[in-house]
Amino acid sequence: MARQPRQERQEPETTGHEWDGIREYNNPLPRWWLWVFYATIVWAIWYSIAYPAWPLIEGATTGYKGWSTRENVAKAIAEAEAANAAINERPASAELTAIADDPELQAYATSAGAAVFKTWCAQCHGSGAAGAKGYPNLLDNDWLWGGTMEDIHTTVTHGIRSEDDPDARYSEMPAFGDILEDEEIAQVANYVMTLSGGTPPDAEAVAAGEEVFLDNCAVCHMDDGSGDIFQGAPALNDAIWLYGGDYATIVETVTDSRFGVMPPWQTRLSEAEIRAVTVYVHQLGGGE
Ligand code: HEC
Ligand code: HEC
Repeated sequence: MARQPRQERQEPETTGHEWDGIREYNNPLPRWWLWVFYATIVWAIWYSIAYPAWPLIEGATTGYKGWSTRENVAKAIAEAEAANAAINERPASAELTAIADDPELQAYATSAGAAVFKTWCAQCHGSGAAGAKGYPNLLDNDWLWGGTMEDIHTTVTHGIRSEDDPDARYSEMPAFGDILEDEEIAQVANYVMTLSGGTPPDAEAVAAGEEVFLDNCAVCHMDDGSGDIFQGAPALNDAIWLYGGDYATIVETVTDSRFGVMPPWQTRLSEAEIRAVTVYVHQLGGGE
């Protein structure tokens, strides 16, 4: 009975779909909805002409507005560099030794230097600059090539034993495997251990080892084993080792030699950045 009045109303057209007595009306789409729909189509066409959109074999259409994320970044970098130019000018032209005495330059060098170090140096020297085997510790006051501001500046600017810079610091320890008998190498390795107060495995060989040392090694490492910063020859009479002070490592170093390479930084860093990191490293090492 309740259904009766509904039957009398004019039924709208249905799509013919029916589920459990529920039928789907075929009403027209709302006007507002339709216009929004058309508007988005027009907008999409305009957008794909205005902005980079359609993929080509190489790249994509550039769009008439000429918008490019790459160029935006390049512009932002250029602006940042221009803004920094004034700040960078003073440290780049100041006397190296004057930087440490000028509080403003000093503050710049420590913060900029720390940032440069973390970005460019930490992967080899460690984020705390404590170094690793073959990569010198920069925290101590023990220097291969010298620890004055000028020494560090030269080392960082030109690098060490790098083919990329004709002014790189250079020296070469000979591979004594081709020069000395195995026995002599064993003797000198025993002797070298005693220089820093170590206990050599074969105490009897030490005396002969000293002879070998004075004949073959003292030219670079000095008679007392104190090393030579003009040749980057490490001191052997302290407990600081670049490659290692145990017997096996010393024999390996003497037999095959070592050739530690550091890249030059003048091609990658600005003069202001090199100076900042120089001051930073100089401070770490206690400032020779
Ligand atoms: C690819 C690795 C590497 C990177 C990166 C590197 N170094 Fe070095 N650095 C070395 C090696 C190896 C030596 C030691 C070379 C040798 O045996 O004489 C060295 C030596 C040095 C020395 C000389 C230490 C001494 O006792 O005289 C200084 C100073 C130095 N590095 C500073 C830096 C600074 C500053 C940076 C970042 C701008 C840097 N290094 C980045 C590998 C690296
Ligand atoms: C021509 C100069 C020269 C001569 C000669 C020389 N050395 Fe060296 N030696 C060096 C240099 C330079 C290094 C550092 C190499 C590097 O950093 O890659 C070095 C490194 C070493 C080291 C590594 C030190 C460390 O801290 O790990 C030992 C050990 C050593 N030399 C022992 C000797 C002995 C022993 C002789 C003699 C048989 C000798 N050297 C002769 C230049 C020389």
